[in-house]
Amino acid sequence: MNFSMPSSAPVVTIDGPAASGKGTLAAGLAAALGFHLLDSGLFYRLVGWKALDSGTPLTDEVALARLAADLRTRFDGEAVWLDGRELSQALRQQEVGTAASKVAALREVRAALLHAQRMARRAPGLVADGRDMGTVVFPEAVCKIFITASVEERAQRRHKQLIEKGLPSNISTLLQEIGERDARDAGRDVAPLKAAPGALEIDTTKLDASAVLAQALAYCRPRLKSTV
Ligand code: C5P
Repeated sequence: MNFSMPSSAPVVTIDGPAASGKGTLAAGLAAALGFHLLDSGLFYRLVGWKALDSGTPLTDEVALARLAADLRTRFDGEAVWLDGRELSQALRQQEVGTAASKVAALREVRAALLHAQRMARRAPGLVADGRDMGTVVFPEAVCKIFITASVEERAQRRHKQLIEKGLPSNISTLLQEIGERDARDAGRDVAPLKAAPGALEIDTTKLDASAVLAQALAYCRPRLKSTV
């Protein structure tokens, strides 16, 4: 693993619960600002996928942390490779999301993934989305956003995404799984899902993606001016 120093490029953090629109907002902001993008959930999904694939119990913290520290990944646009296998579609499956949220509650797993996330910071800047971007990974970020939406709206959005990707989906199962994932992500001891102090909070339940992006840009641009 490379332990060189992360850069001091400006960071915009976007945190929020599952299917709240973080990914869409992060991609929109990164494109508008010309920044790099970090989807930190992918790291937890990769650990969850590898645990399921290798039969590692989702409670074995030592084995899972080792697995997290040894991830050999390659990111190429939307494509994600692990140990030479292309996993972009597989990582989006609901059972991988559930496994990700279980391994993400383990302190040693989170510690093993911290450096790789911080290394994504590079000029001219980074938009990072996840659960603890503003609180733990980039607490010094110049612009922090926390987005939410009702659980019903989020289940509908995830349902649509899965169907569009040709993956199986059931709305009542999704409602239950998202509710359980929220409770686990917000209730864990280590790096729980919560808004960073001073973060802009946006409820996206009744907003479309362009309205959310406009609010976020209006908030971030003046804060980034002194750094870019
Ligand atoms: O955002 P996404 O749904 O891909 O994340 C999958 C899971 O990974 C989340 O439910 C959460 O438990 C975990 N996660 C996390 N911290 C992050 C990003 C994701 O704990 N920064």
